[in-house]
Amino acid sequence: MSSIAITGASSGIGKAIAEVYARKGFDLILGARRTEKLDAVAQELKSLGAKSIHSLKLDVRSDESVLKWTEAAFKAFPKLDILVNNAGLVLGRDTVETGSIDDWMTILDTNVMGVLRLCRQFLPKFRENDHGHVVMIGSIAGHQVYEGGSVYCASKFGVKAIAETLRLELNGTQIRVSSIDPGMVETEFSEVRFKGDKEKAKAVYQGMTPLSAHDIAETIEFCTSRPAHVNIDDIRIMPTAQASATKVHRT
Ligand SMILES: NC(=O)c1ccc[n+]([C@@H]2O[C@H](COP(=O)([O-])OP(=O)(O)OC[C@H]3O[C@@H](n4cnc5c(N)ncnc54)[C@H](OP(=O)(O)O)[C@@H]3O)[C@@H](O)[C@H]2O)c1
Repeated sequence: MSSIAITGASSGIGKAIAEVYARKGFDLILGARRTEKLDAVAQELKSLGAKSIHSLKLDVRSDESVLKWTEAAFKAFPKLDILVNNAGLVLGRDTVETGSIDDWMTILDTNVMGVLRLCRQFLPKFRENDHGHVVMIGSIAGHQVYEGGSVYCASKFGVKAIAETLRLELNGTQIRVSSIDPGMVETEFSEVRFKGDKEKAKAVYQGMTPLSAHDIAETIEFCTSRPAHVNIDDIRIMPTAQASATKVHRT
């Protein structure tokens, strides 16, 4: 039986990943801060036929929470196959001159330190097993910058740097590292960015067809189901209507 650990599984891309792998018959360990939402996801997955689902509170900003979640994951599935570093967020669209330092700390601590905390705990175990696949959810924002996106872009450029470094550090092992880097995906992401302003969030996707969370989940499943000698380093995946971080065709 194969197993997968997914951070940020309470909504959006993380939830869609859980659904895709549940349908494939994987055992799952799901983590996020909102446990009611996480438990609701686990219930839904059970109705899809998933048998072994552990949904456990996880705050990727806390060393202790990451440690507990990792221990639970490997206790349940000692030969765990996949870690998806999906938990992440952006807050605001302010310039460097006007942004909030608290927001910046939250973005960097979640998106960069969160990934590092998870990798720090999972990799020694993957190395012991000489087996495992780390999947990062990067972004087009890790390749191109945009005004009002300095700190989010810095965080996703950071994730790209961590993935590339890991491939060097893990060379010679059977551990694989992939990064999936999407353009616009319609999830709770924009609502979180605009701090609950649903109108502003909706406007982001107006007049264009964004990617769905399911599109990203299927791409990840493709990467992790390649034969053991194949490592997909990165995939940049965009809506057809989006040509760059800043150029979007709208009707
Ligand atoms: N949507 C896009 O356009 C887009 C494009 C490129 C990349 N991405 C990336 O995709 C990933 C998933 O985002 P999404 O679009 O699916 O947005 P989303 O619907 O807002 O989901 C974000 C997930 O991250 C979790 N999370 C946030 N902070 C956390 C923390 N401290 N500890 C644990 N979990 C935490 C949230 O759960 P809780 O709030 O319950 O903790 C939620 O499950 C992020 O890394 C994002 O940067 C998104």
